Amino acid sequence: MADISVAANPLREGMRIRRTPAPCSMVIFGASGDLTQRKLIPALYYLYRERLLPQGFSVIGCAKTPYDNEKFRETMADAVRKFSEQPSSVDDASLKSFTESLYYLTDDFGDSKAYTQLGALLNKLDQERGTGGNRLYYLATPPSAFPVIIGHLGSAGLAAPEDPGKSWTRVVIEKPFGHDLESSRELTTTVNSVFKEEQVYRIDHYLGKETVQNLLVFRFANGIFEPIWNRRYIDHVEITVAEDLGVEGRGRYYEEAGLLRDMIQNHVMSVLSLVAMEAPASFDAVEVRDEKAKVMRSIRPIDMEHLDNFVVRGQYGEGWIRGEKVPAYRAEPNVSPKSPTETFAALKLFIDNWRWADVPFYVRSGKRLAKRVSEIVVQFRRVPHMVFGRKTQNPVEQNVLTMRIQPNEGISINFNAKFPAPIMEIRPVKMEFRYAESFGGEPPSAYETLLLDSMLGDQTLFNREDAVELAWQLFTPLLERWQEEGDKGVQFYQAGSWGPEAADRLLERGGHRWHRL
Ligand code: BG6
Repeated sequence: MADISVAANPLREGMRIRRTPAPCSMVIFGASGDLTQRKLIPALYYLYRERLLPQGFSVIGCAKTPYDNEKFRETMADAVRKFSEQPSSVDDASLKSFTESLYYLTDDFGDSKAYTQLGALLNKLDQERGTGGNRLYYLATPPSAFPVIIGHLGSAGLAAPEDPGKSWTRVVIEKPFGHDLESSRELTTTVNSVFKEEQVYRIDHYLGKETVQNLLVFRFANGIFEPIWNRRYIDHVEITVAEDLGVEGRGRYYEEAGLLRDMIQNHVMSVLSLVAMEAPASFDAVEVRDEKAKVMRSIRPIDMEHLDNFVVRGQYGEGWIRGEKVPAYRAEPNVSPKSPTETFAALKLFIDNWRWADVPFYVRSGKRLAKRVSEIVVQFRRVPHMVFGRKTQNPVEQNVLTMRIQPNEGISINFNAKFPAPIMEIRPVKMEFRYAESFGGEPPSAYETLLLDSMLGDQTLFNREDAVELAWQLFTPLLERWQEEGDKGVQFYQAGSWGPEAADRLLERGGHRWHRL
């Protein structure tokens, strides 16, 4: 690998010291698609720049688009320039040497000949670039192709490591892992017939976000929060994952998926699990994933008899985002003009265990909301007795802890203070931690972290089969009900707003209100 000098980034220096994977090849199925260009290749480029990729690391892109190596390299170089989170830091020299490690195979995923060719190319790269028989397969295709690819990898003899104990093969499977409970079980059966669970990496990129990982550090590396992290002190929890983007040309996918499958079943539930889980014995894949699964198992099934008290389903109409008029969801390309698909959902969930009994967890996510913001708000209970009673000028607010996942990453705590005046006036004030101020530098993107973890064989931040299945178990009855009902019950909201009013009423019924973001 060429020696590229890069500006020191304190946050990445630490990564290099601890983590450099063994030489390997990565095969990306779906290499001409959106995810590869927007996320995977830019993340690999940054890992390369930071010298976190192993010697001889090679990528084989596979897709139906008839590229050759040169065309693939050019297209991926353009993608890095276009989709990099810091375009000004992309330099031509490092980009050129990075793309020299990219290869391409035109692949009809259902044709066994393609896998013979793939095997031959992998062997060649082992010889020429020293990739040591280690293979990381990445399924970035539409989900309908997952079983086909997995089946062919198995029958072509590419799934098992060539030299067990010395070399490894792993598969990273993008979401959605199935479409409902039954299809996720079928996919699990297919995956298990070819790969062992320790080879399988079900990716949820939210778990790779620094701020999401920090949830565990915040809770379990500090002594002061955990004692109050329970029903005795916490009134309720809100989790919001809001986007101002619409479906961005992905109308076809979105019509099949909808918001619940796209965001809540995976990303939001992953965040909720980390907020609610018990302390694992150690930060290790088995322990952490055991605790996450226990949370999922404790979530109360959605009350299908009184759905309106627990669930809101919305879809955006036309509106304005940052001064620009944007179309309604039903007017997006490849979307039916009568589509019942939800682009917003809010739910009131309960976790039936000793720690959380009767504490509402309100979660919401939506497209075309007022802004892109993901936050966790933990509202604490009122003080048991207000000693300042009649003497105060204002009602006293409850303490609130806010964890900002993105943007403006950080944590703040609101508490009450005496306003400096010769009267007893109490005002809410805020204590702030901001990542950018405390640590400087740019944190690695979620995909950088997770790609590196998968090369290193660390499954801690990937979803295990049981958690995925439990999430489907929770949401499948709701998805089936929505399908039966068509667009009955869909609440329309204006693009650029905070979603349908019904989502406010969902909280009002419990005496709560969404915090302003
Ligand atoms: C993806 C969803 O998993 O996450 C997209 O498919 C969504 O619809 C994206 O836009 C949001 O990710 P992030 O990291 O930008 O919050």
